[in-house]
Amino acid sequence: MKLLITGGAGFIGSAVVRLAVSRGHEVVNVDALTYAACLENVATVADSPLYAFEQADIRDRAALDRVFAAHKPDVVMHLAAESHVDRSIDGPGDFIETNITGTYNMLEAARSYWVAQGKPANFRFHHISTDEVFGSLPNDPSVMFTEDTAYDPRSPYSASKASSDHLVRAWAETYGLPVVLTNCSNNYGPYHFPEKLIPVVILNALAGKDLPIYGKGDNIRDWLYVEDHADALLLVVQKGELNRSYNIGGENERTNLELVKTLCAILDQKRPKDSGSYSDQITFVTDRPGHDARYAIDPSRIRDELGWRPSVTVEEGLEKTVQWYLDNEAWWRPLQARAGVGQRLGVKA
Ligand SMILES: NC(=O)c1ccc[n+]([C@@H]2O[C@H](COP(=O)([O-])OP(=O)(O)OC[C@H]3O[C@@H](n4cnc5c(N)ncnc54)[C@H](O)[C@@H]3O)[C@@H](O)[C@H]2O)c1
Repeated sequence: MKLLITGGAGFIGSAVVRLAVSRGHEVVNVDALTYAACLENVATVADSPLYAFEQADIRDRAALDRVFAAHKPDVVMHLAAESHVDRSIDGPGDFIETNITGTYNMLEAARSYWVAQGKPANFRFHHISTDEVFGSLPNDPSVMFTEDTAYDPRSPYSASKASSDHLVRAWAETYGLPVVLTNCSNNYGPYHFPEKLIPVVILNALAGKDLPIYGKGDNIRDWLYVEDHADALLLVVQKGELNRSYNIGGENERTNLELVKTLCAILDQKRPKDSGSYSDQITFVTDRPGHDARYAIDPSRIRDELGWRPSVTVEEGLEKTVQWYLDNEAWWRPLQARAGVGQRLGVKA
């Protein structure tokens, strides 16, 4: 199968690219190489005859038409997006252009290609989205996001992703484009860009800096190991029912404070400090404006219909992640010099 994957130089996209090539699929990685991209993420497959890279911006329709015509993919997995909530608070414009207009361009380029190819039956447009489109949950384990939960996005990022989900469903209804959607919870793991909570905590801890926790640290997230997520995405694009969405979660809800304390305990074991614990570096900082209290995924649909479950607990995944950051300083060190990394963003609201 030939997959056109957008955003394949980013965190999750690169995990999908690496896994797809390792399973013998052909991959065309389409990425504009924004501040969040790193071609090192796909270095292990870059020389494979199964892999091709196209630097293209999804805001550029003509470039997309060229890529579709040149590579003739069997399916599309659309992950390219502006993804950092804090940046969306400071500068929502890029999120509107890439996540909404860019997805519109992808849908139109895919539709015209699909029509020109005679509407092949196996074609799929798989849109990768977030559970943040559903809004915020109370701290009550009996309430979770299902695929039928009403949309209620709260940040510029989640509103732009919600808009893109609506566009994808509209293109299925209106034009018959064969689509599948997934909405996943918070990912973590190797190659996570060092502006997101988990890499920030690991790298600040090692540098002897404060470990910033927004508010009281009681926000709850359901943590999904990125390589598990990539496995689920490849399953959905091949076996998912047309025009259906699947929530993908890690079955591992933790408060941010619990998560950071677990990271500190792992670091205390793997790289002990001369005295004390890394948890001594925890500091509480002003909360993110509109910070959603809890996200939690009801994983029944993907488990019951496609037989998928995550393979690791968050403690196992964090252990692997910490080890990966300890072993890969040459990857993360240069990224810390990129604009905005290491600074507190998203407090201007
Ligand atoms: N990271 C998470 O926890 C998470 C959770 C739920 C959903 N998602 C979704 O998964 C997808 C991937 O997220 P990620 O964390 O890997 O993001 P990321 O920021 O690490 O990577 C995004 C990639 O998209 C590329 N890109 C951005 N704008 C582009 C444009 N205009 N044209 C072409 N390429 C462009 C970037 O260069 C980068 O390589 C996104 O759609 C995101 O909304 C992420």
